[in-house]
Amino acid sequence: MASSGSTIMSKPTLITVLLLLLVQINTITGCYTSLFQFGDSLADTGNLLLSRNDEHSYMRNYPYGETFFKRPTGRCSDGRLVVDFIAEALGISLMPPYLGHSNQDFKQGVNFAVVGATALDLAFFEEKGVHVYTNYSLGVQLEWFKQLLPSLCASPSRCRDMLSNSLFLVGEIGGNDYNNPFLQGKSVQELRAIVPHVIEAISSTITALIDEGAVTLMVPGNLPIGCSPSYLTVLESENKDDYDANGCLSWLNEFSQFHNQLLQNELNRLREAHPHATIIYADYYNVAMELYQFPNKLGFTGGALTACCGGGGPYNYNVSAKCGYQGSTACVDPSLFVNWDGVHLTERAYNHISTGILNGPFTTPRINIGCILSKPQNDDHPYS
Ligand SMILES: *[C@@H]1O[C@H](CO)[C@@H](O)[C@H](O)[C@H]1NC(C)=O
Ligand SMILES: *[C@@H]1O[C@H](CO)[C@@H](O)[C@H](O)[C@H]1NC(C)=O
Repeated sequence: MASSGSTIMSKPTLITVLLLLLVQINTITGCYTSLFQFGDSLADTGNLLLSRNDEHSYMRNYPYGETFFKRPTGRCSDGRLVVDFIAEALGISLMPPYLGHSNQDFKQGVNFAVVGATALDLAFFEEKGVHVYTNYSLGVQLEWFKQLLPSLCASPSRCRDMLSNSLFLVGEIGGNDYNNPFLQGKSVQELRAIVPHVIEAISSTITALIDEGAVTLMVPGNLPIGCSPSYLTVLESENKDDYDANGCLSWLNEFSQFHNQLLQNELNRLREAHPHATIIYADYYNVAMELYQFPNKLGFTGGALTACCGGGGPYNYNVSAKCGYQGSTACVDPSLFVNWDGVHLTERAYNHISTGILNGPFTTPRINIGCILSKPQNDDHPYS
């Protein structure tokens, strides 16, 4: 505290104070110094593309990437994803994909997410006769992280420091554990039965990361998949009662909510088991639901349920002419659309989700990226 006396600051003092403030503002972004992402196509920034899985690398084609990067990068969107907006908000560089990059690139984190990745391992689906797109499941991504870790920090104490200053994004993951079986004709009853297994796979990954030294983890839930043009097309129903007021398939959205409820129950259990860790739930479902409830108010005048890029049909989703392939065309202005390619969202929709996560009420507990200026009051918190 300043001692009493003159309340008028001399010019040099004022400049010092201003400089100190500037330093402080700069260090806000130092709150999390690296970012580790695990997940699927909602977060992949190039891994599937680099894995040379040519059969499923549809995102290698233009117009993927047209809005921001001006070229396909392996992201399943016209531009940036939620993870990109989070990196920008933290003031760190956009995360390089794990495959095809060197450890030198990973000083501010790594992205392990792979398009098509499931929470459960390949063997689970093989046993059930379900085809999945990639074997780079959450468990495989965790192994990548464990193998990489020693090269990211020189000593156990340095690793502890680095990991405690890192934000771990675990998901969204699990969507493909359901997409593949649903689209291959499995019933909702069969799918409900696998949800606890998916939650267990996510939970054991979180535990393993905490055991490795992770302190702050954000775990997003599933999106309202009943509003997805792909599902709306493939599982179209004659029965009006199957749709909610926004035109989404109610039973599929209820399924997403079922997953999200079980996930939140499990996160509560994990918080009790690991009181020193901060485990944040990111409510993708409800923040995305705003896009379907108020598309016009939010500026999505192209429509919430029609894909920007596709090959025709009521939702502009055509399995014979998917975005990036012959027979499909893209809308003129993707920023007016919620949905990009029938399955994934546009950059502008992802921006809405990130804003709701970082500045809005859609995380539990609230994520605090400016934690130098406004430290959490909880004494158990590692940053207090
Ligand atoms: C995973 O898939 C890739 C091709 O996508 C293949 O080369 C690799 O052998 C597979 N690994 C396992 C463990 O099945
Ligand atoms: C879907 O794409 C195929 C192949 O381009 C095309 O023949 C068909 O007319 C399209 N369907 C609709 C509903 O536009």
